[in-house]
Amino acid sequence: MNKKVIYFAGGCFWGVEHFFKGVDGVLEAVPGYANGNTENPSYKEVYTDTTGHAETVKVTYNPDRVGLGMLLKLFFTVTDPLTLNRQGHDEGTRYRSGVFYADDEDRPVIEQAFRETESRLGVPIVTELEPLRCFYPAEEYHRDYLDKNPDGYCHLSLKTFIYLRLYQDIRLFLGDEADVTAKMADISALISKKMKFFWTGFYRVVGSELVLGPFQGDAACLRIGYGKGVCGTAWKQARTIVVPDVEEFPGHIACSSLSRSEIVVPVYSGADIVAVLDIDSDEYSTFDQTDAVWLELIAQLVCVH
Ligand code: SME
Repeated sequence: MNKKVIYFAGGCFWGVEHFFKGVDGVLEAVPGYANGNTENPSYKEVYTDTTGHAETVKVTYNPDRVGLGMLLKLFFTVTDPLTLNRQGHDEGTRYRSGVFYADDEDRPVIEQAFRETESRLGVPIVTELEPLRCFYPAEEYHRDYLDKNPDGYCHLSLKTFIYLRLYQDIRLFLGDEADVTAKMADISALISKKMKFFWTGFYRVVGSELVLGPFQGDAACLRIGYGKGVCGTAWKQARTIVVPDVEEFPGHIACSSLSRSEIVVPVYSGADIVAVLDIDSDEYSTFDQTDAVWLELIAQLVCVH
């Protein structure tokens, strides 16, 4: 079996280890200390924040099952690349975020992921990109910490873990199916069942309009013009749109008076937008950046196989 290794510093290593262990194709995730100035540091020493080590997770994966590009996408869903020496509530150089590589050939792939993240956020990121200089596995009690302590501290949101499972269920269900409509149908059903959103579905680009595609929920309007409503705007502006309160969105198309907030994600085939994934909630402010990133990853599954 092919094996590769990448090192992720993403704040407290308990949550980061737990997250990557759950990713299909990851063979092992080991918490430790990396790229500092002392040898064989203890947790206590690293905790003083004087060693230069970052809490880091060594991720061993099978590249035939999960690529480095995907691991990096997942890494950027669970870290904040804009906070210097801080992730969540944890502060200090030991909680800086970074990607440390052991194989020089990985560098261009990582640089590409950094560029994509910067262009998504529109500002420079502070996540480190460095060759791995050293890695020392953490003390035994840090390994599988959240399995041993299910109520233990985790700076990653529960929603992250729910989406990780949903994403993997969808990948499993779709297999190598090529039919886009069939995939839209199952994706709607799986999202709807797991997340219990009020309305989940697709509008497909047909000529100069969006036309209703597979969905779960109440009957909805059949056609939306380019630039119209949230869906048509997401298509026109080629970006994900999160609407905390639909009343505040000029031109929102109310298919149901019960809809309160909404997210719309473009679906790409290569460089072309071929559909949008539209999700409505009957509560205000349901969607945030975590939803946006995961739903973008899910939307990418529509046209690739
Ligand atoms: N709210 C959408 C219309 C579609 S329904 O939500 C299903 C919009 O303004 O684009």
